[in-house]
Amino acid sequence: MLSTLKWKHTAKIVGFGLLAAIAVAGTHSIVGAEQAAMGYDEARWHPIHFKPAIDDASDEQCLACHAEILDHKVRDQTPAGLRTSEFLAWYQTLDTYEGPQDTFHARHLSSAFAKKVMNLKCNFCHQGNDLREEAPNAHADNQGDTSHSLRKMIVPSQTCLMCHGKFPVEYMDGLEGTWPEIRVDFEDEETPNGCLTCHEDLYRTVRHQVTFLNSQAIEEEGAKGSDSCYGCHGGRQWYRISYPYPRNPWPDMEDIVDGTPEWAIDRPVQSDPRYRRAK
Ligand code: HEC
Ligand code: HEC
Ligand code: HEC
Ligand code: HEC
Ligand code: HEC
Repeated sequence: MLSTLKWKHTAKIVGFGLLAAIAVAGTHSIVGAEQAAMGYDEARWHPIHFKPAIDDASDEQCLACHAEILDHKVRDQTPAGLRTSEFLAWYQTLDTYEGPQDTFHARHLSSAFAKKVMNLKCNFCHQGNDLREEAPNAHADNQGDTSHSLRKMIVPSQTCLMCHGKFPVEYMDGLEGTWPEIRVDFEDEETPNGCLTCHEDLYRTVRHQVTFLNSQAIEEEGAKGSDSCYGCHGGRQWYRISYPYPRNPWPDMEDIVDGTPEWAIDRPVQSDPRYRRAK
């Protein structure tokens, strides 16, 4: 965490020279050597935090000032004295949470599992805010309006919901109940992944072709069992709804489904162009 106290005492950002050099290398420099002489307010209001500059920002540019995002660790104990080793946060009680407690950013950027299946960039979640708006409503974006989201608060309906929504069972041909109930009928030793009973050849087989996911690694994990699939499609559910995924056409789609189902009429038929992988 950038220490505000330290910054208040020093007009200049100590140590930025070296870091700025890293930032400059490779990408066109929104952040440049001038960082070395940049004051706290100037850095804080750096245009890279806002649109349009944030759209093109690289992780290296953000990390030049926010290296702590990848470094810092959870505290050994809470301010009230509860030791991390003796207590579990609620999300640690889920079966999907492996290993000791780690920071939110580490779980999305640097944990072994995150690195295998995802490729999230800073600006995937931090999409910038509008300087003129003092966040009139941090949750306004549920209506699809992204302009008011705080850069810190991000837009959950366009980010978190993608991997932390509910299992969208209502669209799945007659399936009912929860996945832990359903899987009993779909899985055995020879069929470790019941999702693939339907998603191997029949439905939505063109999936995850976006730059923020590692589609091949996801299928490799999926071959071992359904926990990894369910993990992003219901197993780590923080929301009551599921994300309205784009419905990318797949081979033999016309032979398998009869027209567009009613629930899918308003769905995009391709992944977000910002992240779409070239075929
Ligand atoms: C030139 C240095 C610099 C660069 C480059 C930079 N930031 Fe910042 N950022 C700051 C400073 C300084 C603050 C104020 C920090 C504070 O008050 O603790 C800040 C604040 C933030 C905050 C709010 C922190 C809070 O606690 O409210 C977020 C989120 C953030 N930056 C993300 C980013 C992202 C994402 C990028 C890359 C697109 C980026 N920053 C690039 C210097 C920078
Ligand atoms: C998966 C979405 C996601 C990604 C990817 C992400 N962030 Fe964040 N970031 C958040 C959220 C949500 C918060 C608010 C966390 C909180 O308040 O506890 C946050 C908070 C921050 C803060 C405020 C300080 C802090 O520690 O809470 C900074 C600075 C920041 N992010 C920078 C970055 C940088 C730099 C990157 C890329 C290396 C990055 N973030 C990647 C979602 C993300
Ligand atoms: C592209 C998919 C994806 C997106 C987007 C995403 N997550 Fe996650 N999230 C994961 C995965 C995968 C894990 C498990 C990582 C691990 O166990 O190492 C996880 C873990 C978590 C955890 C438990 C771990 C912890 O340290 O707290 C929380 C809470 C969480 N995510 C909240 C969020 C929030 C809030 C957002 C939006 C800012 C978000 N996630 C965006 C995939 C995603
Ligand atoms: C009995 C067959 C069946 C099983 C088992 C099954 N699905 Fe589905 N799934 C479907 C069908 C059918 C659709 C909708 C196809 C379409 O778009 O026409 C679907 C759609 C989806 C969608 C897209 C939902 C949306 O809103 O666009 C996701 C994500 C998904 N399934 C994930 C899974 C995961 C993960 C599992 C295992 C945990 C699983 N499915 C198990 C049949 C199944
Ligand atoms: C790391 C999180 C993650 C994992 C693991 C994951 N998914 Fe997904 N899945 C997503 C996201 C995010 C999307 C939306 C991608 C996009 O925008 O095109 C998605 C989209 C889908 C869709 C809709 C595809 C379309 O474009 O029509 C299906 C079906 C699906 N996933 C099934 C699965 C199955 C089956 C597995 C396991 C083999 C799995 N997912 C594993 C995050 C995940």
